Amino acid sequence: MKILVTGGLGFIGSHAVVELLDDDYEVVVIDNLYNSSIDVIDNIKKITGKEFSFYQNDVCDLDALEKIFSEHKIDAVMHFAGYKAVGESVEKPILYYENNLLSTLHLCKKMIEHCCFKLIFSSSATVYGNPKVLPITEDCKVGSTTNPYGTTKWMNEKILKDITVANSNFTVIVLRYFNPIGAHKSGLIGEKPNGIPNNLMPYIVRVATGELEMLNIFGNDYDTPDGTGVRDYIHVVDLAKGHLKALEKAISSRGIYYYNLGTGIGYSVLDLVDNFEKVNHVKVPYRIIGRREGDIASCYADPSRAYKELDWKAELGLEDMMKDSYNFILKQKKG
Ligand code: UD1
Repeated sequence: MKILVTGGLGFIGSHAVVELLDDDYEVVVIDNLYNSSIDVIDNIKKITGKEFSFYQNDVCDLDALEKIFSEHKIDAVMHFAGYKAVGESVEKPILYYENNLLSTLHLCKKMIEHCCFKLIFSSSATVYGNPKVLPITEDCKVGSTTNPYGTTKWMNEKILKDITVANSNFTVIVLRYFNPIGAHKSGLIGEKPNGIPNNLMPYIVRVATGELEMLNIFGNDYDTPDGTGVRDYIHVVDLAKGHLKALEKAISSRGIYYYNLGTGIGYSVLDLVDNFEKVNHVKVPYRIIGRREGDIASCYADPSRAYKELDWKAELGLEDMMKDSYNFILKQKKG
């Protein structure tokens, strides 16, 4: 079975490609290298000992998609490609709406033209906005997003729903990720944000290596056990494995399905810092500063639907996430 992976050299996409190859799927990757690097190809090959096809193209490019679907009989698509920086999306909404929506539209158009009807879509817990009830189930209200990036995820979900209504063969599994962190055990692939990181885990590792002086904790006056923000961090390898379970579901079903991919456990910013220091025997200096605009106090999943219907649950704990994130960055530094 041949799977097209858009954004397959990115943080989550590359881990999904590894799991697919390990499970003997044939893989075709399309990635424009906007937020990824070409050496990920060799690293995936090193980890798996397997080959895959690669196209350096933009998913918005209809001609490039036509070429791929003509050259390969694609059975299903995992769609990871997209812009994902919250702050940048506020500054450049047109760029975000154009790229994140057009890519999905063009992809679905070409899929249908080439009779490929199975899609796994990367969504985000961001579609739930500021949740009224915790843990968050898939039936919680969606759409009160707080930034253009989040809105593109929600709009994509709506577009995909309409496509499944109009095309009874078309099947979509929407996966709503909580906070993916960690890296592959080998230390060969992981998260490499450009510039100064916005997200917590990439920031912590850079402080630990001395590249950044100290972590700024955005507020300790939230209504949480220690006052700092609580999130559902999930190991990227667990997340990638969830995609393979979703693929099995897509192949045997029709329609659109929604699943939370999280652990169901919330950890605070201070929990992460403490755990990181203990597991890696390294100091992470920090200071408390004011809240970051748009942040919420707590967000964690009820992942039971994915367990019941996909037979998937997260297996790796916080220690693995801390160890693997650090191991990746140390390997990168060694070159
Ligand atoms: C953010 C995005 C979310 C996106 C997700 C991808 C916002 C508002 N939300 O989620 O849409 O899907 O990333 O992973 O940006 N923190 C600090 N100091 C830092 C960085 C973060 O204290 O330098 C705190 C935050 O206040 C928060 C927690 O760490 O409590 C996690 O933050 P982050 O990693 O940025 O993820 P989210 O904000 O949950």
